[in-house]
Amino acid sequence: MTTREGWGSRVGLVLAMAGNAVGLGNFLRFPAQAAQNGGGAFLIPYLVSFALMGLPLLWVEWSIGRHGGQYGHHSAPGLMDVLGKQKWLKYVGVFGLFTNMMIAAYYTYLESWTLAYVFHSIIGTFSHVNPTEFFPNYVGTSSGSIFTVPYEALFWFLITAALNVWILSRGLVKGIEMMAKIGMPILLLFAVVLAIRGLTLGGGDVGVIQSPLAGLNFVWEPRASGLLNPTTWMAAAGQIFFTLSVGMGSIHCYASYLKAKQDVALNGASAGWMNMFVEVVLGGSVIIPIAVAYLGITAVQEATLGGSGFALGFLTLPNLFNNWGALAPVAGALWFGLLFFAGITSSMAMGQPLMAFAEDEYKFSRNGAAVLFGVAVLLLGFVCVWLYPGGAFDEFDFWTGTFALVVFALLEALIFTRIFGMEKGWAEITRGADMKVPAVFKYIIKYVTPVFIGVIFLGAMIQPDGAWSEAVSGLFQGNGWPLSPASVIGRVFHVGERYVWFENGQPTRALVQDATRTLLLVVFLGFGLLVRNAWRRKEARS
Ligand code: ALA
Repeated sequence: MTTREGWGSRVGLVLAMAGNAVGLGNFLRFPAQAAQNGGGAFLIPYLVSFALMGLPLLWVEWSIGRHGGQYGHHSAPGLMDVLGKQKWLKYVGVFGLFTNMMIAAYYTYLESWTLAYVFHSIIGTFSHVNPTEFFPNYVGTSSGSIFTVPYEALFWFLITAALNVWILSRGLVKGIEMMAKIGMPILLLFAVVLAIRGLTLGGGDVGVIQSPLAGLNFVWEPRASGLLNPTTWMAAAGQIFFTLSVGMGSIHCYASYLKAKQDVALNGASAGWMNMFVEVVLGGSVIIPIAVAYLGITAVQEATLGGSGFALGFLTLPNLFNNWGALAPVAGALWFGLLFFAGITSSMAMGQPLMAFAEDEYKFSRNGAAVLFGVAVLLLGFVCVWLYPGGAFDEFDFWTGTFALVVFALLEALIFTRIFGMEKGWAEITRGADMKVPAVFKYIIKYVTPVFIGVIFLGAMIQPDGAWSEAVSGLFQGNGWPLSPASVIGRVFHVGERYVWFENGQPTRALVQDATRTLLLVVFLGFGLLVRNAWRRKEARS
């Protein structure tokens, strides 16, 4: 079997891959994570995580994709299946479908907020409605109920999902590549304009209390203090996962459309570096410096509690733009416009693997697969829209956008190095390479990367409430282990929460959380059954 589609050009491929990586994570999550983890103290663990885990995983995923593409596979189950003889390998690929599907669902909803905010910035809504009041009304948290249907948010969600479906239905070259070639330069331009305006804010501008350069220093000045803090390491590694889109199954899919001898080493590294540049240089130069100039560092840290950057991006920034007078609508349109383009080039990459699965394994047409993807995004995303106040969105985000990525990446790193074999793996990475991959990476990929991911995985499981050092010394003094409610085990057992499903006859957040987790599990198992059925049909045919 041969691949049916291929990339139109190298520039298109790298831009599509970089577009996959560059997303809301670069402009919202990174600044928030940096602010929460001590600014420059975050930087060294973050860069080390990139070198020892991110970059190796990029090469592994590009190689797995290109290798499986030669057998006519374009989605994770098939791509994993051809790495060895073991029948269970294809089921590891279920992670690739599941993670893409669930992230696409909540991410498309998030992306739709940015489109709505472009509209509201242009019509000047934020000049008379405070964004801190607008947002809770928009997503429905102001209703006081744990479920609500916010009609405007639903409308923009429908539009955004339809746009994704339309682009994906146009195919690799006319859809994804075209969108990346348009979206990436536009978002870079918008980010540069905002960064220049933000960084040149001075004493003469209304409301400015200090130089925006204080914000830049805060993010960029590397400090060794984070090196000894496991919490900083876990946050840094988590950000690397999310921002590079590793452990999702989307990089594998894009790479499966490469030709057998097309370079993966330089292309993979270029897309990764481009993402890092956009994240650290541009992501670090917009939201934090502007907010610090008006509010100071402490207020910015408070606004980034939770680490998502939503409050800073959707509440604080549109408000601060009001200080820019007539330019406020333009600034809002640039900011939310750049977020929209960053988002859509990432959500497309989550859709393509699912479409490829439907096309390869269930013989759907491209249009049929795109519509199927759209319907699935709408149905699953609706859960996030409807139950946003009850925390469904956060559940999707944690279990798929934070946890499942790490599990899939750990499994694929082990399979690539142990089952496919490091010798074959290294030959795959270096075949057709347009750069000399330093030989040390052979050892990093084989030993350091899996151990690194394994440690992050264990850390996420048992993360303590408070500092690790205190938890460890407490353990030795016989005080037990103070599990954090944010740890994986803590979440599963609802540590630190009043665990009841109904209170005064009303459903609680705990019920929404458990129901959402059940849904996630059902979808995971559903994909497992679809994979099993597809392979049975294949075996019956052969
Ligand atoms: N990598 C994408 C982002 O950063 C998912 O948003």
